[in-house]
Amino acid sequence: MTTAAILTAAGSGTRLGHVLPKALVPLAGEPLVVHAARRLASCGVVDLVVVPAPGDHLAAFESVLSAADLGVPVTVVTGGMSRQASVAAALATVPPDVDVVLVHDAARSLAPSSLAERVVQAVRAGRRAVVPGVPVPDTVVEVGPEGPTAVEDRVPGTVATAGATAELVTGNPDRSVLRSVQTPQGFDRALLDRAHAAGAHRAGDESLAATDDASLVAALGEPVHVVPGDAAAVKITTPRDLALARLLLEEHG
Ligand code: CTP
Ligand code: MG
Repeated sequence: MTTAAILTAAGSGTRLGHVLPKALVPLAGEPLVVHAARRLASCGVVDLVVVPAPGDHLAAFESVLSAADLGVPVTVVTGGMSRQASVAAALATVPPDVDVVLVHDAARSLAPSSLAERVVQAVRAGRRAVVPGVPVPDTVVEVGPEGPTAVEDRVPGTVATAGATAELVTGNPDRSVLRSVQTPQGFDRALLDRAHAAGAHRAGDESLAATDDASLVAALGEPVHVVPGDAAAVKITTPRDLALARLLLEEHG
């Protein structure tokens, strides 16, 4: 029984807007990727970590990860054009004796060790694809185009000047059955291999690529299970998220 964790870190962090790739951006003096890797390595159920990173920053990733002295082997590989391609590149290097794979985002830097442990336990208990999920706090609607005449039709004589910026609500899903999906996600290794092989044609195009691994498994028609997520596993996307992460770290460590 060997568990590998793939820690995606090959994104550029366009929305964060830092000169460094997002995963190298410091939070309380340590790069985001180190925060995430440390929590994975210390959960007690991860035997090795593979980090797909931007090809032009491999040495920097190797240097910060080896300096962090995580206590489990960490390898850095060149990522791909999309998150899906980066996971596939890392998965191709995972040794054959690994039977469970966690896939986690360096951008979810403060996801606690207990969350990785919970996900691996659920996979080891026989669920072959497991994601953490948290309830959705807002009312969520489905939208479609408003159409050129939607306003005029209902209010005769008005001009649809707002039409350029408004959308029409087309669905009101029941919030109680919705979950926001986080990482780390856990998989039976053979199933994850199969899901990536089947979805490989999408990986080269960021607009077609899967945004997580569980959706590739679901596309095979295989069940995906949800375990309770953790508020600290929120994804750092914008400067505001980074500021919130700093506060979280000060409060909870
Ligand atoms: N990722 C990756 N390879 C890519 C794109 C993204 O490994 N080609 C990783 C990121 O490093 C991140 C995770 O996927 O850990 C989620 O992506 P996101 O939050 O979108 O990060 P970035 O793509 O770096 O940010 P942005 O979209 O703002 O550029
Ligand atoms: Mg991105």
